[in-house]
Order: sequence, then structure tokens, then C-alpha cells
Amino acid sequence: MIFKIKAFILDRLVAVLVSHSDFMESRWFLKAMKIFPEIISSTYDDSIAKDRSSYQDVIEVGLLQIQEKPGRILDLCTGTGVATLIANQVFPNTPIVSIDQSEGMLKMARSKIERLGFSNIEFKLGNVRRLPESDGSYDLVISSNAPIYLSEIKRVLAPAGKCLITFSFGGHSFCKIKDEVSKYLNKFGLSLVDFDVVGQGVFIISERIRPCS
Ligand SMILES: C[S@@+](CC[C@H](N)C(=O)[O-])C[C@H]1O[C@@H](n2cnc3c(N)ncnc32)[C@H](O)[C@@H]1O
Repeated sequence: MIFKIKAFILDRLVAVLVSHSDFMESRWFLKAMKIFPEIISSTYDDSIAKDRSSYQDVIEVGLLQIQEKPGRILDLCTGTGVATLIANQVFPNTPIVSIDQSEGMLKMARSKIERLGFSNIEFKLGNVRRLPESDGSYDLVISSNAPIYLSEIKRVLAPAGKCLITFSFGGHSFCKIKDEVSKYLNKFGLSLVDFDVVGQGVFIISERIRPCS
């Protein structure tokens, strides 16, 4: 019974995420995204550690589908740098820029990177709705468990670049609306390249729609 209720709520949530994505621009949502991550930043890694493998597997499996080694990676809404560290394992020594608007989250992320001594990773404070990055400057843009602003993703993606979006929950709900996901990407000039459920999660890979020659 609890499982059915959980699945129902996830289905609704995922449907809203795709079909009413303008809620991610609403004042209350933007405010919540400013306040909530600061509150949870110091305990965030502990809370995901309980479910570490299912949280992280989908990110790793998604990254392993990227055939060409990217020259530069951008991790949006990096939080404490979970996806950044996995990307660094899959593509060692590749320059990675990781952006988040929460000082608390970035503090946690930076302390991990300093401890591990990776010099190819840069954490930047910023709003992913208005990225300070130049057009077409990244071969791979990744985002996990975070709000998605596709127009900025498309702008910073190199012509042959790929975008990997992952959620560590709601995979089966996303599966039910795969066509809507594809149409939603198309609205922003992106096309669906790969999509799969991994554990509880889902990865979605897209690229820029290529102009007909
Ligand atoms: C649930 S956390 C996910 C963190 C990480 N990607 C992960 O998978 O563990 C969502 C993150 O998105 C960030 N965020 C939300 N809206 C943002 C925005 N407009 N610009 C930058 N960061 C944002 C929050 O600060 C928070 O750190």
C-alpha cells in the first residue's frame, strides 16, 4: 500500500516536472532553492550515504554511456560535488567546472576536493539559470537531482556536446513519460540520445539538434 502511494506521488511529481516546468521559475520555488540547500548542506552527504550505491550508480552508469572523452565538463547544481567526483573517476584529469548557488554546499564540496588533491576541478558559486560561462564551451554538461534550466544548458553546450541529466529516484515514473521528456528536450533544441532506468533512478542523455545539411 505504502509502495503504491509512493509510486503515485512520484508519478505526479515527475509529470509536473516535465509538463509544468515553468514552476521552476516561480518565486516560491526559487526562494526554497536558496534557503533549503543551505539548511541541509552540512548533513547532505550523511543523508545520501544511507543509500549510497543507488544514489550514485545511476550517475556512473549514465557517464559510462558517453563514448567520447569530453575536453571540458560542467556540473550544474553540484551540491557537495557527488556527480563531479564520479565524473572525475570516469574521465580522470578532465577539467571540470562545478556550479552551485549554495555557499554551504560548496564549502563541503571544496573540502572534499582539497582533501583528495584534485587540481582539475573548480567549484564556482553561481546561478545555473544565468551561467557565467561562454556559449558552446563544454563537451559534457551534467546535472543530478536538481532543477533543470535547458536553455542555458543548450547555450553552453559545444555543437557536438552531450548533456547527461540524472535523477536517483522516480526512474519508473520517468519511463512512463519518456515521449514527453523527448518532446520537452526538443522544445529547447535538444534531442534525446539515450534514456534508461538504473535502480530507482534514471539517466537522460541529449545533444543539440543538428541542422539538416
Ligand atoms: C538536491 S541538491 C543535488 C546536489 C547534487 N547534484 C547531487 O546529486 O547530490 C540540489 C542542488 O541544486 C542547487 N541549486 C538549485 N537551484 C539552483 C540554481 N538556480 N543555481 C545554482 N544551484 C542551484 C542547490 O543549491 C542544491 O545544492
